[in-house]
Amino acid sequence: METPAVLASFNGVTQPLASVRVSPLDRAYLFGDAVYEVIRVYAGRPFRLERHLDRLRASLAALAIPHDIAVTRERLAALLAVSAVREGSVYLQISRGEAKRTHVPAPGMQPNELMWLEPLPVDFGAAKRAAGVTVALCPDLRWGLCRAKTTNLLGNVVAGLAAQDQGATEALLYDESGRVTEGMHSTFFAVDAGRLVTTPLGANVLPGITREVVLEIARALGIETVERSVARGELPAMQELFFTGTLSEIQPIVAVDGTAVGDGRPGPLARRLQERFVLRVSAECAS
Ligand code: PDD
Repeated sequence: METPAVLASFNGVTQPLASVRVSPLDRAYLFGDAVYEVIRVYAGRPFRLERHLDRLRASLAALAIPHDIAVTRERLAALLAVSAVREGSVYLQISRGEAKRTHVPAPGMQPNELMWLEPLPVDFGAAKRAAGVTVALCPDLRWGLCRAKTTNLLGNVVAGLAAQDQGATEALLYDESGRVTEGMHSTFFAVDAGRLVTTPLGANVLPGITREVVLEIARALGIETVERSVARGELPAMQELFFTGTLSEIQPIVAVDGTAVGDGRPGPLARRLQERFVLRVSAECAS
């Protein structure tokens, strides 16, 4: 059976992703001058859409790219309406637009907005969540605007390649002071003496939407939550480590630089939070 073409919307025109053409002068291509979101679609509904759009608005403001989010909401709704995809993910990118190449762009540019909706298997990530991932500790090479979801992901790419060279599944990033920041595409959590610990938003990390959901769930379960940075040296003392993200959901980490976390298997709290996460999704995206 032929795979159906992935549908995209480029500046509001719905078309197959493969037929979208973007100029080489687009500033996303030349400068990484763009922001993005990844939004999960469960049962045909975008999960926590408004929070993703709030973060998109904040990312656009951080780069001073003028764009009306109401237009994005309408274009996304139109794309979802014409697509047959029920389980999938939306990749949404807004660049400052295209212009003659100068570092500081002339005012009045028209942003380019591209989004596409890709199907995912219903059990996407389940095998990896069940087995856990191994990580290699890598320096966080990104620049100082990590709170905005910008497409300047080169540092993350380099860390991911280094992790792969060391035989790990993913990279766990730390800053110059040796504090763990986040994963290469996910938020970092640890379990310390029964308390759930995650990097504070002030520490130059991306404010994860899944992070919010997991903190909500933990509080509802009566689990104490602490927002503080974890030093690299503290990692061996933690009972559990895991990542959270739109595509990974709750992803246990089972080894750091070849050393097992706990008994080397996905921990009980990560598994419990994943179970509750699935319930939240069904409550909010029920068909
Ligand atoms: N990444 N930290 C970083 C650096 C990320 O890129 C992401 C998400 C997160 C988690 O945020 P959220 O829970 O809102 O997905 C944290 C997306 C999924 C990606 O780049 O594919």
